[in-house]
Amino acid sequence: MTTDRQPISLQEINQDFSLVHTASLSPDAEQEIGFFSGKRVPLEMHRVTTVKRLYLKDVDTRAAAIEQAGNNTFLLDNRDVFLDMLTDSGVNSMSIFQQAAMQTADDSYAGSATYYRLKNALNYLFGTEFFLPAHQGRACENIICSSFVTPGSSVITNYHFTTTKAHIMNNGGTVIEVVPETSLDPTFLTDFKGDMDLDMLASETERVGKDNLAFVRVEAGTNLIGGQPVSLANMRAVSQFCRERGILTVFDASLLADNLYFIKTREPEAATKTIREIALEIAPLFDIIYFSARKLGCARGGGIVSNNADLIETMKPLVPLNEGFLTYGGMSVREMEAIAIGLIESCDFHVISQTALFVEAGIDLLESKGVPCVRPAGGLGCHVDAMRFLDHVPLDQYRAGALAVAAYIAGGIRGMERGTLSEERNADGTDHLSKMELLRLAMPRRAFTLSQLEFVADRLGWLYENRHLIGGLKFVEEPKQMRFFFGRLAPVGDWPQQLVAAFKRDMPSML
Ligand code: F0G
Repeated sequence: MTTDRQPISLQEINQDFSLVHTASLSPDAEQEIGFFSGKRVPLEMHRVTTVKRLYLKDVDTRAAAIEQAGNNTFLLDNRDVFLDMLTDSGVNSMSIFQQAAMQTADDSYAGSATYYRLKNALNYLFGTEFFLPAHQGRACENIICSSFVTPGSSVITNYHFTTTKAHIMNNGGTVIEVVPETSLDPTFLTDFKGDMDLDMLASETERVGKDNLAFVRVEAGTNLIGGQPVSLANMRAVSQFCRERGILTVFDASLLADNLYFIKTREPEAATKTIREIALEIAPLFDIIYFSARKLGCARGGGIVSNNADLIETMKPLVPLNEGFLTYGGMSVREMEAIAIGLIESCDFHVISQTALFVEAGIDLLESKGVPCVRPAGGLGCHVDAMRFLDHVPLDQYRAGALAVAAYIAGGIRGMERGTLSEERNADGTDHLSKMELLRLAMPRRAFTLSQLEFVADRLGWLYENRHLIGGLKFVEEPKQMRFFFGRLAPVGDWPQQLVAAFKRDMPSML
């Protein structure tokens, strides 16, 4: 059973949120601001109101800290970090309206007014009727996979995300990826590298049989291949293919904000549409939409929306069982208020453009120092291609993991490995070699400045000149699942010490 409720109007939403500054949502403001000189500069369309002091510890302290953290950037204490580019998750800057809205939260176990405000904000963005709250994106994945993935079934996706894959596999399913090989080539230039290969979608559906497909999942802003977007045209084609065959479709909207910006600026048919119009066109293409509000909505939480009452009824019991009552789902109501405003602000071109523009500026700076990066510039962060950067390090010694250690030693910059280390081993115990070895330097929205990016490029450029000093890593403690989160590693040889010595030689008086 589906509903055809009309999306809520801006006037109605304003009755809910008297705080939202709707002037900035006007469609005629949806235009990039150019410079007379022609220079491409990511101009900030906000002013800084509250700031956090940062500290850069000296290189000996950094080398000791990363060693103590088992050469795993997840295990560093943030107080030892200068630029925390581990992720954008839960660390995008919030607006004054989000912070003000937090004070209006209705703290009630059941039937909280906050729930209905968030539900309305989701309706404003997606036109959806039903909303199941959950404490973050992976909790939504747990609910969706527990409900629809059965042992022996498969999920076809453009590309997996780590937690998504783990939930599919925990329920006995298999992941099939259908992006073309070229999307995994960091040098291959095309606008929508997150697009599914429609021939592969058809042939894989044929191969496994549509009745063995739990669902087809499209991930906006494809995380693990460098924050690469999916086109509106591709979403439409995938949706049509699945609808014709009665296959369930699931959309991971966690990275939708960046993806909306790319659709508007790269897909000619969308150029004259507002960001909200594009979102409202995407949503009905999928049966279930879920999101991490640590990313979409710039606060901390998550949720599942749909217009299909039957699908919602199937998933609903898992919310009070694992998350919390149906009107908060494990989230703080204060965060829910911030998410609601954050979702509405995600319709503002000048809000969502900030990540993409800073990623592009960062990659331009890095490449000017010779540092190889994933092109075209995507969303989420700058993705340094460790495959090429450290081509002398054996593949089973985790090139991107080693580069993450080196970047921290060189500048207190905390990035995240996205490569073989983030995979799980094959059944025979060998490493499942990832096709990409990326050091992700996440660009939380409106958090860092251009000068800080200059610093990152400067230190990464120095590392590139000294890349032959950098060696590999080996596990000393390796958890079976999600080893990248808490695994501990050791350097192969004494390269971190050699790197510190070179740093002191080249930058004797610098931190
Ligand atoms: N889907 C995508 C595309 C994601 O990027 C993430 C999280 C999730 C689902 C899970 O959401 O963290 O709220 O449970 N990505 C974070 C990252 C962790 O750093 O890229 P979550």
